[in-house]
Amino acid sequence: MSGQDIMALEERFGARNYAPLPVVLAKGRGARLFDTDGKRYIDMMSAYSAASFGHLHPRLVAAMRRQLDRLDLVSRAYHSEHLGPLCEELAGLTGLDSCLPMNTGAEAVETAIKALRRYGTDRLGIPEGQAEIIVAAGNFHGRTTTIVGFSTEPANRRGFGPFAPGFVTVPFGDARALEAAIGPRTAGVLVEPIQGEAGIIVPPAGYLATLRRICDRHGILLVLDEVQSGFGRTGRNFCFEHEEARPDGLVLGKALGGGLLPVSAFVARRAVMDVFEPGSHGSTFGGNPLAAAVAREAIRVLQDEELALRSRILGKTLIDALRAIPHPAIVDVRGKGLWVGVELDPARARARDVCLAMLRRGALTKDTHETVLRFAPPLVIEEADMLEAVSIFHDALEDVCPAHTLSCV
Ligand SMILES: Cc1ncc(COP(=O)(O)O)c(C=O)c1O
Repeated sequence: MSGQDIMALEERFGARNYAPLPVVLAKGRGARLFDTDGKRYIDMMSAYSAASFGHLHPRLVAAMRRQLDRLDLVSRAYHSEHLGPLCEELAGLTGLDSCLPMNTGAEAVETAIKALRRYGTDRLGIPEGQAEIIVAAGNFHGRTTTIVGFSTEPANRRGFGPFAPGFVTVPFGDARALEAAIGPRTAGVLVEPIQGEAGIIVPPAGYLATLRRICDRHGILLVLDEVQSGFGRTGRNFCFEHEEARPDGLVLGKALGGGLLPVSAFVARRAVMDVFEPGSHGSTFGGNPLAAAVAREAIRVLQDEELALRSRILGKTLIDALRAIPHPAIVDVRGKGLWVGVELDPARARARDVCLAMLRRGALTKDTHETVLRFAPPLVIEEADMLEAVSIFHDALEDVCPAHTLSCV
C-alpha cells in the first residue's frame, strides 16, 4: 500500500483529532526515521520527548525482549519482580521517597491532582471537597476532562465541559502573582518547569527556587510536571535540578517508557504518597512487569550514556547554530538543553509551512501555537545530523520566505 493510500485510510476511518504532516513513517533508528518509500529524515521531535533515547535503542529493545521471555502482565493484585526496584531507582534518581507508576502522562497528572487534594484535606485541614490547586496560564498537562478543565487554550476545552472546579490560574513565570493567589483552601501548586506545548516558554531564572520557598513558607505542596522536561531533556536529569528546587511531587512520563511503551509515574515525598491507601487509586497496567523492565533500563541508559550532559553540550551547539541564522522571520530562539523553540514572525512565515518545507528536505519537526517550531531531537543524536537539520531549517525558511522579502504570508 502506498503512503498516500495509508493516509487516505486514516483520513476516512480515523478520528480527525490531529493534523499530522503528510508523511508515513515506517522505520527508525536513533535519531533517523524512514518513510514507506525509504526516504530518510532527521528526527527533531522525539515524539514530544517520548523517544528521547532514540528510536529502538538496542539496550531498551533487548530489555523488552528479555522480559517478553519471562512475564507480561499480572496486575497489581500481586507483586512482580521489577516494581519494587523501579520505585527505588526512580526515588534515588529524583531524590524523593516513593513512586506510583501509571501509563500515560495524563494519568500521572491525575494521580498528582488526587494526591494534592487528599493531602490538602487530610494534612492541611481543608474541608472535604474544597481543596484548590494553583496552576499556570498556558499549561499543558494532558487531555482528561479534569485536566483540560484548567487549560487556558480554548481548543482544548470547547464543548467538553462541565469541568471540575478547584483550580486557580495565575500567569506563568510570575512568582509574586502565585503567592498572592494562595488562600486557606490552597493545597499546592502544579506547574511545568518549562511550558512545552505553550511554545517552550522558559520562566525567569530563579522562578522554581522561588516557588519552592513560597510553598515552604505557606506549608503547601509544590508539584512539578516533568513529563516532557524530564530524563535529560533540558540538560539535567530533571529540570528542577537547574535550581535545586526539589518538588514534593514529580510527574514523569514519556521518555520513562524508552519510546517503547507508555510508562508514567508520580514520584513524591513519603508523606505525600501516604495519602493513598489500598483501594484509593490504581491502574491495571501501571507498573506492569514489561513496562517496569523497560523503564528500569531507560533509567540505566540515561545514566550510563550521560544523556543529560550530552543534552547540555549539544543543546548549546543547537541554540548557537539557530541563533546564528540570519533571517528576519526569526523573532526568538529560546530553550534549555536539547529543547529549543524558534519563534517566527507570523507576518513573514507560518511555522507549519516551514515544517512542511523541512519535511520535503528531510527533517521532521512540528509547529506549536502556529508561530513556534520545536527542536527537540533524541538526546543520542549525532552532532552532524543535528547541524544538518539546522541547515535544512534555514533552507526551508528561505523556501517559504526568502530573507530579502518583507512579507510572505
Ligand atoms: C507537560 C506534559 N504533561 C502531561 C502530558 C500528557 O502526557 P500523555 O500524552 O502521555 O497523556 C504532556 C504531553 O505532551 C506534557 O507535555
